[in-house]
Amino acid sequence: MPNIIIAGAQWGDEGKGKIVDLLAERVQVVARYNGGHNAGHTVIVGDRRFILHLIPSGILHDGVLCLMGNGMVIDPWALEREIAELREAGITIDGNLRISDRAHLILPHHREIETLTEELRGARSIGTTLRGIGPAYEDKIGRRGLRMGDLVRPAALADKLTEARRHYELILRGAGREPMIDWDALVKDLAGFGDRLGSRITDVARTLHVEMARGYSALFEGAQATMLDVDFGSYPYVTSSSAIAAGAATGLGVPLTRIDAIVGILKAYTTRVGGGPFPTTMGGELEEEIRRQGGEFGASTGRPRRCGWFDAVIARHAVRVNGFDFLALMKLDVLDALAEIRICTAYRCEGETLDEMPADPALFERCEPVYENIPGWQSATVGIRKYADLPEAARRYIERISELIGAEIGIISTGPDRSQTIVREQFSLASWFAG
Ligand code: IMP
Repeated sequence: MPNIIIAGAQWGDEGKGKIVDLLAERVQVVARYNGGHNAGHTVIVGDRRFILHLIPSGILHDGVLCLMGNGMVIDPWALEREIAELREAGITIDGNLRISDRAHLILPHHREIETLTEELRGARSIGTTLRGIGPAYEDKIGRRGLRMGDLVRPAALADKLTEARRHYELILRGAGREPMIDWDALVKDLAGFGDRLGSRITDVARTLHVEMARGYSALFEGAQATMLDVDFGSYPYVTSSSAIAAGAATGLGVPLTRIDAIVGILKAYTTRVGGGPFPTTMGGELEEEIRRQGGEFGASTGRPRRCGWFDAVIARHAVRVNGFDFLALMKLDVLDALAEIRICTAYRCEGETLDEMPADPALFERCEPVYENIPGWQSATVGIRKYADLPEAARRYIERISELIGAEIGIISTGPDRSQTIVREQFSLASWFAG
């Protein structure tokens, strides 16, 4: 059975949760490789709606082992809240959830530093989720971070916090603020997490290795998406982790040679939350209508998402840096009412036509979309399960996107429920996916 990576191809919120949930039925392990509770995966099962922030969506399936990788940053308060909420909803969480001892912790001082730096950036703020994600990764790279494994060695906690504390106090005092963290109370809280979560904290890379050696399949789930990737996204308006498919290798310790397929998730239009360039913004009433139709509000923060036309320039970039075997196109039905649909095929920037997204944010900010208009289908696609049953104009839209981005579209989502999905037969993994 294959091991598959699922990664977002735009600015996040493409609907990865639904595809991971759908495929989780066919695997024994679901493992997440990056990010923290900045993510929000909405999964609809029957008439129930689950929003997962940290825990892989495989948790909704009996018998699936869920792993949280070393590439993640984990706020233990948020993790315990999520476990409690899922248990309240009747989901079993026992030995089916394990957490890497190498995953870094998000601590209260990270949120404080983030609030301060976002404030100091003023009009150029990133528009982060203010969950402490960036500063936690800074402490990791700065080699002063605490990791999940530290929770189970409480005697060493106070000493381990020394460097992070010094760094935080330097920043706060430098900004003329008084540090407010009660470090003794923090050490006690962390030791408590160690007591309660300790049995789940383990060497996840090794667990994965053992499961794969047994012949089990794994689904590797990325949070956020290519355009939020710290290297290949719209830097600096990005998150602080490796969201592209390659992040699975470093964020879980899975060897590259064990990856059998990479599936990209695209939305039939584009959205983004937070600041930064977004060339295909729809604007006006249409944007509001699409936001309403698509329920485009952040699953983590509730913020309204900016909505734009499909941007083939960024999607092409995503296809290249991820090497998708094929893509899933989500929320096609949200476009059902439109008489005409635009696709951005290139950018105009300072008198030149660009086929690529510029790395320089100032230049990206000045890019104007070059659109191609194609007829809409103006009929309901909601719940359609066969490609041939889609209106011809919808098929033309999908085929044009595929042509422009240079990759196949193997799955089409026509509604939020698991059942509202088209799996195209001609894709090599389709029979496996379709069961
Ligand atoms: P951070 O990840 O909180 O540092 O935020 C950095 C940028 O990534 C901001 O623009 C956020 O809105 C965006 N972001 C972070 N997580 C998600 C997500 O799960 N979906 C969409 N945008 C996200």
